[in-house]
Amino acid sequence: MASDPALDRVLSEWKNRVRAEYGSSGLAAQVVHWMIQCGFPEEVISVGLRIVQDELVHARLSHDVVVDRGGEDAPMALDIRATAAPTAPEGVLASLVDSILRNFCLGETFAVPLFHAMRATTTVPVARSALDRILKDEAVHRAFGWDALDVLLEIDGSGVRTRAEAALPEMLRWFHTAYGGARSRTTITDTERSCGMINGEEYARIYQACLDEQIRPRFARRGITIP
Ligand SMILES: [Fe+2]
Ligand SMILES: [Fe+2]
Repeated sequence: MASDPALDRVLSEWKNRVRAEYGSSGLAAQVVHWMIQCGFPEEVISVGLRIVQDELVHARLSHDVVVDRGGEDAPMALDIRATAAPTAPEGVLASLVDSILRNFCLGETFAVPLFHAMRATTTVPVARSALDRILKDEAVHRAFGWDALDVLLEIDGSGVRTRAEAALPEMLRWFHTAYGGARSRTTITDTERSCGMINGEEYARIYQACLDEQIRPRFARRGITIP
C-alpha cells in the first residue's frame, strides 16, 4: 500500500468519489420512481434512467483510479443512507421537489465547474479518462435538474416556489460547508493535481462563482429567490 501522504490523500479522495457516484445512482433511481408516480413526461424520465446508469459507470471509473494508484481492488463499504433521499411527510411531489433541488439544481450544477477545474491539471491517464466521461455526463445531469424543476413548476407553481424558497437556505448551508468553507488545507501537491484534485481555495472560489453566476440567475428566471 502507499506510504506517500499525497498518494494516500489521492486514494482517499477517489474512494470517496466511488461512494458518492454510487450514491448518486441510487438518488437518481429514486427520482425516476417518483417521476413515474407523478406522471412526468416520458422524455424527462428517460434522461433520469440514463443518469442512473451514468453514475454507476462513474463509480466504476473512480474505482479504476483507486486500483491504478495502488489501492485495493475490493468492494467498498457502502452507506445505504447515501443511496436515497429522505421522504417528505407531505408526499411524493414534495419529496421530488426536495431531491431535484438538492441533488440536481444544486449538486449537479456545482459539479460541472468543479469537475472542469479538477480535470484541467489531471495528467494520470486513468483519472483523465474518468474525468472526461464524468464531465461530459454532468452537463446532461445539470440540464435534467432544471428541466425537472420546470415540470414541477408546471404542476404546482406557487407550491414549488414556496417550498424551494423555504428549503434552499438550509440546502446551501450544506454545500457551503462541503465546498465553500470547510476545506482548510490550501496547499496541494503535484501528485494530487495530476490525479484530479484541487485545493480548498479553488473549491470555495468555484462554489461562490457558480452560486452567483449560474444558480441564482437560474432560480430567479423561475421566480425563485435565494435569500
Ligand atoms: Fe457522477
Ligand atoms: Fe451526476
